[in-house]
Amino acid sequence: MFDFLKKNRVSPIYSPLVTDMHCHLLPLVDDGSKSLEESLEVMETMKQCGFKEIRLTPHFCYPRFPNKADDIRERYKNFCAEVEANKGTRDIPRMTSVTGEFQVSDGFDEYMNSGQLMTYRFTDPKRGSEKGMVLIEFSLHQKRMGLEDTVFKLQMEGYDVILAHPERYPYYDAHDDNLEQFKEQGVYLQVNILSLDGFYGESAQKKAFEYIENGWVEFLGTDMHNLMYAQALKHSTNNKKIIKLLDKYEFENKNLAIGE
Ligand SMILES: [Fe+2]
Repeated sequence: MFDFLKKNRVSPIYSPLVTDMHCHLLPLVDDGSKSLEESLEVMETMKQCGFKEIRLTPHFCYPRFPNKADDIRERYKNFCAEVEANKGTRDIPRMTSVTGEFQVSDGFDEYMNSGQLMTYRFTDPKRGSEKGMVLIEFSLHQKRMGLEDTVFKLQMEGYDVILAHPERYPYYDAHDDNLEQFKEQGVYLQVNILSLDGFYGESAQKKAFEYIENGWVEFLGTDMHNLMYAQALKHSTNNKKIIKLLDKYEFENKNLAIGE
């Protein structure tokens, strides 16, 4: 009986992060939430787990999710109004902005060249580049040619780069020259919280801890998609290794500014 109670316990262990900066809770624009109700339920769980603020980051991934920045901004505005209408009855974090998770795939150059990259900034205006930080991801299956060139080009164009979930790419590990090179170039890394709890398997879990222990990781993200992920987030709040890690390392999530 006590084990059962333990499994369902939720603690606000992520409160030191303040902000989640990676999630897919704008309904029906990608493989994330399928409805307002689903988003609200996931957000309630995020609040219970300690998050006070949420930044939405829908996929921009041509051709699978060929989202456009203006359309996403419009949908975000409407979604905010719907969430606001539910605020009285739901205990949820504050939504502070929408940016995107841009996959380096065939359509990426078009997003970059047409000024559609949506960015975060640091709260401190003296930190970070002029154009802000763009969250990018790579293919989870095969390494695409020229990834390093794209990252370099982004930096040359005046963007800071945050690479999402580096622990999930099978072609990188803690001894990889490419990741080390990224760190030397000033690329920020964002590990998924659920990786630390084994949600994506042992390899991603091991790498997630290694990258953090190497001092390579500035951000943690939930990468919430739906209610199954929310259940996994609840589960992670009972993980003693994660609790220790949050005590030992400080992350930059709370230093992200509101709006673009
Ligand atoms: Fe994501």
